[in-house]
Amino acid sequence: MIVIKENYDELSKGAAKLIKEAILEKPNLVLGLATGSTPLGTYQELIQMHKESILDFSRIITFNLDEYLGLSANHSQSYHYYMKKNLFGEININPENIHIPDGTAKDVKALCRDYEKAIQEAGGIDLQILGIGSDGHIGFNEPGTSLDSRTHVAKLAESTIRDNSRFFEKKEDVPESAITMGVQTIFEAKKIILLASGENKATAVAKALEGPITSQITASILQRHPNIIVILDEKAASKLKKYG
Ligand code: GLP
Repeated sequence: MIVIKENYDELSKGAAKLIKEAILEKPNLVLGLATGSTPLGTYQELIQMHKESILDFSRIITFNLDEYLGLSANHSQSYHYYMKKNLFGEININPENIHIPDGTAKDVKALCRDYEKAIQEAGGIDLQILGIGSDGHIGFNEPGTSLDSRTHVAKLAESTIRDNSRFFEKKEDVPESAITMGVQTIFEAKKIILLASGENKATAVAKALEGPITSQITASILQRHPNIIVILDEKAASKLKKYG
């Protein structure tokens, strides 16, 4: 299902409402989380609901999509840091229930294996929040990544390094690799909410939703997902044949 909202604010409210309903229905929800600028408004809404005592996060279990390789949890651009600052530090989540790949792990292969195992042991991801890269990636599954992939180390595409350099002092500071859930790992989530906002996502959104299913646009696999809600603002939807 594709839902088009007038603007980013409405998109964030819509996504937060769906997450709220899922948590109210299952207080020990296994929630897959994304970083980047797109989900920030959604996280703000969730924090607000927590402050108003509408939402209790004490039993939810989270798995983040990815982390930069080489960045420690207290590096200001790490996804650990992002999550603490933008969500976890503001809600009553049990730290033991938080899972984010460790960018400084010595044995990365073992970490990837263990991450998959932890997801399985939690019973699988009930609800996965996703953004999309301007090259059509989900997580850090760049063009060319196998659609069967599981948690692995990924080399970032040049365009992603450029996109994400806005968060770093200089482009050279952006790590070249990351640990990411694989395309198949993401696809196995029972329910997915894909968010995209702004004109710079319009091409990727159109290719992902209306183009062929291909490893060149890893988000395109989502066309096959049985339970996905895509929430777009008007700008991100502007290149869709059906809605643009
Ligand atoms: C990064 C993340 C993705 C995210 C994408 C889009 O590359 N690994 O998970 O979806 O950026 O980010 P933004 O929301 O900032 O456009």
